[in-house]
Amino acid sequence: MQKAKETIVVKIGGSTLNSDNATIDDLVSLQKRGLSLVVVHGGAQEVSHWLTRLGISTNFIRGLRVTDAKTLEVVTAILAGLVNKELVAAIETHGGKAVGLSGVDGALIQSEIKNPELGYAGKVVKVDITPLEVLMEAGYIPVISPVSLGLAKEPILNVNGDTVAGELAAALSANRLIFLTDTEGICDSSGKVVARLNSVEAKELLASGVASGGMIPKIESCLRALSTVPVTRIIDGRLPHALIVEIEGMVGGTTLAR
Ligand SMILES: Nc1ncnc2c1ncn2[C@@H]1O[C@H](COP(=O)(O)OP(=O)(O)OP(=O)(O)O)[C@@H](O)[C@H]1O
Ligand SMILES: [Mg+2]
Repeated sequence: MQKAKETIVVKIGGSTLNSDNATIDDLVSLQKRGLSLVVVHGGAQEVSHWLTRLGISTNFIRGLRVTDAKTLEVVTAILAGLVNKELVAAIETHGGKAVGLSGVDGALIQSEIKNPELGYAGKVVKVDITPLEVLMEAGYIPVISPVSLGLAKEPILNVNGDTVAGELAAALSANRLIFLTDTEGICDSSGKVVARLNSVEAKELLASGVASGGMIPKIESCLRALSTVPVTRIIDGRLPHALIVEIEGMVGGTTLAR
């Protein structure tokens, strides 16, 4: 069946969350133009800030943060609480309609422990997009924090925001998945932005280590989404009105498509 409205999943990186309020204006304008939007946000910097403020030390294993019980409490409070509510409040006060929820709510994102060494960090096992469909049908932008429902003993797990965005885009068969981040796009080994990558080329960038750190889950998430989503994009969220420019012309950034 043909979908009535164009559905766009946008991941807003914590790194671009506070840099430019124009992102909020863009979301509101696009909602008013009739697009169905789903927003997923990160917020690693904000979590780190609060862990420091609360005197909770963080262990890293091979560069990956270990989510112990105390860290999980802060992750939940900051991502599903503060960051999520600030985003929803900003959209509402700029004239849009939004409802904030986490992956826990309505069992939207169901997960299990990824690697016991990393503590309460989850991998996605199943998604149930019913809560999103209900909210979008009623004219709201669902704004999602990636804190997710644990399926085994642990009720809440911390899941990567990029991963959640890819899983939701795939489950929604979205028309586009867009990552707003703090680089111009995906860079090659010479540091130049690559305009277009197919999935084979993207896997090569991962294998060679040219894509590292926070870019790894974005590329993996794009590859996952490409099962049903025709176009995935990684763009510079620091540019003013990056989202409007993207919807009107897909200028700049990197396109990852089949
Ligand atoms: N090949 C690459 N091209 C571009 N950026 C890369 C590449 N490899 C690694 N990166 C890093 O990925 C980073 C983007 O991911 P990062 O996780 O920091 O941001 P985010 O996901 O937008 O924010 P958050 O994690 O807070 O939600 C860039 O700032 C850059 O340092
Ligand atoms: Mg990141």
